Amino acid sequence: MQNFQFSNPTKIIFGKGEIKRLPKEIPSNSKVLVIYGGGSVKKTGLLETIKEVLKDYQLGEFGGIEPNPTYETLMKAVELIRKENYDFLLAVGGGSVIDGTKFIAAAVPFTQGDPWELVEKHLPIDTALPFATVLTLPATGSEMNNGAVITRKALQAKLPFFSPVTFPRFSILDPIYTYTLPNKQIANGVVDAFVHVMEQYLTYPVAGKVQDRFAEGLLLTLVEEGPIALQDPENYDVRANIMWTATLALNGLIGSGVPQDWSTHMVGHEITALYGLDHAQTLAIVLPSMLEVMKEEKAAKLLQYSERIWNIDINLSPAEKIELAIEKTRNFFETMGVRTRLSDYGLGEETIEKIIAGLKAHGMVKLGEKGTVTTEVVRQVLALSL
Ligand code: NZQ
Ligand code: ZN
Repeated sequence: MQNFQFSNPTKIIFGKGEIKRLPKEIPSNSKVLVIYGGGSVKKTGLLETIKEVLKDYQLGEFGGIEPNPTYETLMKAVELIRKENYDFLLAVGGGSVIDGTKFIAAAVPFTQGDPWELVEKHLPIDTALPFATVLTLPATGSEMNNGAVITRKALQAKLPFFSPVTFPRFSILDPIYTYTLPNKQIANGVVDAFVHVMEQYLTYPVAGKVQDRFAEGLLLTLVEEGPIALQDPENYDVRANIMWTATLALNGLIGSGVPQDWSTHMVGHEITALYGLDHAQTLAIVLPSMLEVMKEEKAAKLLQYSERIWNIDINLSPAEKIELAIEKTRNFFETMGVRTRLSDYGLGEETIEKIIAGLKAHGMVKLGEKGTVTTEVVRQVLALSL
């Protein structure tokens, strides 16, 4: 096992009806800005519930954060907060609203330059407004991590940032708020969480037995519960398991002390920045081909994955087991309704060089756990994904 430090300060408040705890968790004299997306929180009634629960606070609202949150929209919230002196942010929504809130929280006190520099130049972020979240879409793990991915439309750039001060203070996870999700978003969430686990598990063995078994538990839960969640949207236990799995998939636990890949995500971000596909759609396109192209380097873990996740016949040869495991991964995404080919989204060969140019422009030229996923490798991966 590799050396590591692990610290996660986010308090999780999990379960049905726990929204009532909001006033116990937000300091009583706070001026709170409630931040949300395109309006699902209005349709579902969650925004009204929150206003009612927080009726003793000074409250403001900022809506309109889009999927793949943009710098352009987020800077409007930054201006509003600076003008009106809000001192606590409450993100209500999925990964986009939470990521956007992380950027806003870091950008408000950053007055020495354009806050985009925090993302583009990886400037150290050592202060941010306090914020918390009410999660409505299990997928990204943003509710219990310190990362965010921000898009700058004008530059066709979608880039991640991290900081020790951008963990949520607390997150409320009530599975009932996920009942209103369209199947497409549930499927996206399951695929995103699955790929988060794979980015931290499917590398090379370092005798991280406990990390491997945590990771395998999360993958098996997604394989088991994902299809049921599509058919039985109001099954509380299914939704609860998916929600907690997605949080645990990217809260730092399973990635501690093991190598991490993240090449599928970095290629995926370029595809979203250029063509606007959903985050999970890009992952479903890239991961199976990435595993195929990198199968020699990843052979030991692919074999373990084939046996422990997909119960592949032990009598098959190692090469056959690996092929079958990759095929089953692709089939799982397809069964969830997330298509796995560029052509399924109307994209063809002409996209490959544009994606490569994006990776080069953003310095993403030596990806993967060993830095061996060069742009030439990505070219092969994308060609296999057509
Ligand atoms: O905007 P509203 O109207 O709220 O609708 C949203 C949005 O259209 C809707 N939705 C959310 N909860 C709902 C609901 N509709 C009905 N009922 C509900 N309960 O779902 C749509 C998608 O929401 P979004 O927040 O964009 O989805 P997701 O949670 O998948 O977040 C994706 C973003 O997170 C980033 C992605 O790159 C992408 O920008 N990621 C963040 C990560 C992190 N911070 O650690 C890691 C991930 O790898 C990922 O990159
Ligand atoms: Zn992701």
